[in-house]
Amino acid sequence: MQMARDNADITAIPQESYDLGQITVVPQSSAIGAEIVGADISEPLPSDVVVAIKQAWHTHLVLLFRGQSLTPEQHIYFSSYFGTPQSPNRTSFTPMTEKYPEIVEVMNVGMEKERLDRSLSNAEAFWHTDMSYKEIPPAASALYSREIPPEGGNTCVCNMYMAYDDLPPDLLAMAEGRTAVHDASRNSAGRLRPGFDDEKDPQKTPGPHHPLIRTHSETGRKALFLGRRPYSYVPGLPVDESEALLDRLWGHAAQEKYAWCHSWKVGDLLLWDNRCAMHRRDPFDASQRRILHRTQIAGGRPY
Ligand code: OGA
Ligand code: MN
Repeated sequence: MQMARDNADITAIPQESYDLGQITVVPQSSAIGAEIVGADISEPLPSDVVVAIKQAWHTHLVLLFRGQSLTPEQHIYFSSYFGTPQSPNRTSFTPMTEKYPEIVEVMNVGMEKERLDRSLSNAEAFWHTDMSYKEIPPAASALYSREIPPEGGNTCVCNMYMAYDDLPPDLLAMAEGRTAVHDASRNSAGRLRPGFDDEKDPQKTPGPHHPLIRTHSETGRKALFLGRRPYSYVPGLPVDESEALLDRLWGHAAQEKYAWCHSWKVGDLLLWDNRCAMHRRDPFDASQRRILHRTQIAGGRPY
């Protein structure tokens, strides 16, 4: 096994369930994800429970809370333990609840056809980090399920600390000190956002430039930070070299050993850390209803 690089402690992700005060942490895979048992997140939580949940979150990157019954207010309140809930405040076809600007409805029903065709609807969402196409992307997202199809629509997450830690030395040397552009013009199903041209030249991709390797503002650990593969570009390199570098980085990061897939039940809440985890979603049958509510927590500029 390769020695851990800067993140020595991540080789020690617990594999067995353990207690942290009142809560029990149940790891879901060797790489990422843990279920938290023993917390009713619809109620205000004692501060020691919040501390324990945050500790588990920093260890496992993605937390699952099952069987929750949350109003939008309770969802927003729970999210506020991890930072400031924010409105995505964007021009997009993803609907937002009118009364709660902090909540995005991730769904494939109740929309006119054009909106459906240009939102995520029932499509596959490829690996991405939420809204990394912003200069200051959100630190975290909390997705809560209200209606779930009988099959399909699983959400997978992957550990980008581990991907960084395992980078082959030559790939690390090529990525260090470099940035990539994060395409602002297309969503994670590859659909064009309103107001953008269908630009095919990666050197002209609109969007912010973020470091390929970022440091997590709370844990201080380094993670690979890739955003989305399509139309990404590494400034300063000829396009063919940029493509080759990005293909290698993505091939490395998207390995199964860094990932875990969640099969949803109604009442699940999944909290992921956009600074060190990516996620993707399987497609599902368009005739089935799938409705989730998502909050996001304000983040800082990636460094
Ligand atoms: C999202 C997202 C995945 C899903 O809302 O950002 O990627 O499972 N959703 O719907
Ligand atoms: Mn997403």
